[in-house]
Amino acid sequence: QKEGYPHYMLKEIHEQPAAITRTIAPRIKNGLPDFTEDAIPDSFFENCSDITVVACGTAMYAGMVGRTLIQSMLKIPVTVAIASEFRYEEPVIGENSMVIVVSQSGETIDTLEALRLANKYTKKTLAIVNVKGSSIARESNYVLYTHAGPEIAVASTKAYTVQVASFYLLACKLGLVLHKIDETYAKDFIATLQKVPDTIAPLIEQADTIEQLTKRMINAQNAFFIGRGLDYTLSMEGALKLKEISYIHAEAYAAGELKHGTIALISEGVPVIAVASQQHVYSKVISNIREVKARGAYVILLSKDQSITDNSICDVHLQLPDTPDAFAIFSAVVIFQLIAYYASVGKGLNPDQPRNLAKSVTVE
Ligand code: M6R
Repeated sequence: QKEGYPHYMLKEIHEQPAAITRTIAPRIKNGLPDFTEDAIPDSFFENCSDITVVACGTAMYAGMVGRTLIQSMLKIPVTVAIASEFRYEEPVIGENSMVIVVSQSGETIDTLEALRLANKYTKKTLAIVNVKGSSIARESNYVLYTHAGPEIAVASTKAYTVQVASFYLLACKLGLVLHKIDETYAKDFIATLQKVPDTIAPLIEQADTIEQLTKRMINAQNAFFIGRGLDYTLSMEGALKLKEISYIHAEAYAAGELKHGTIALISEGVPVIAVASQQHVYSKVISNIREVKARGAYVILLSKDQSITDNSICDVHLQLPDTPDAFAIFSAVVIFQLIAYYASVGKGLNPDQPRNLAKSVTVE
């Protein structure tokens, strides 16, 4: 049931604060991550030498966030593989390598086959899955169920945010077991994660603002999402969301990569959605924004910087809440989801049922 919402996608966007709470709350004990309910022992995390995340689409982009987070926080090598590529490669997986497969449905055939392959190399396989008892959940050595509830819209929204939240819990647990972080750091990290639902709830209510600004985008042929670090990983999800339901061709670029080719595509009025939430690269992203703005781009900027106004270095500034940098992406992705949703609705499309796409891809 849509419960009064015009589309399942909008309903599911609104369900995110509750879905995140449902997913993280049972896995936090005394302020620290705890996977007792999932029966994942600490020994699973011990001796972990490296991690490969394998998934498709949005689930893979959640893995990209996990990669950037874990590498910067724990200095453990993390690779993200597209499941349909991984399954036909000779994977470099050792017995202490951890393989994390991510899937909302738990039935995506490429992800399932990738898991079957990974199971031949290591016992450290873990599935982050939403659907209980699904094939991927049954065949992985350990399962961390996300508690998003049923996701009906083809475009994944709440499943993504709970997958990302699961990576935050896992990063913290792994860091503690491997003595990469101490309890004080972990408690502070988890306390910030617990605040995410309250932080994003007011942003979802800003839907009117987003609806207005997408009016400038609906006739665009192309749109670009740019950012650095975590913001870049998030941009990939923003671009996928926009293209799958609004049919506007959208690509994500690491902002520093623009001048290696992509900037040639920037001309008058081309929408560029930029995120600048990471302090250590903030000035770099701002100078990349100036470069696209100078070439006529219509720039929507998401940042925490309160000194930026509309029509300054950007055309529209969307204020992100003042959260620690590692957590800003939860806020930004909600805005991306709403941009995609309203671009689709503004074009008279049904965002719940984009052409050519199925909710679960069970054939190759
Ligand atoms: O069920 P899964 O998470 O394994 O599905 C993976 C992708 O097919 C899925 O995320 C797809 O990219 C979504 N339609 C994106 O919104």
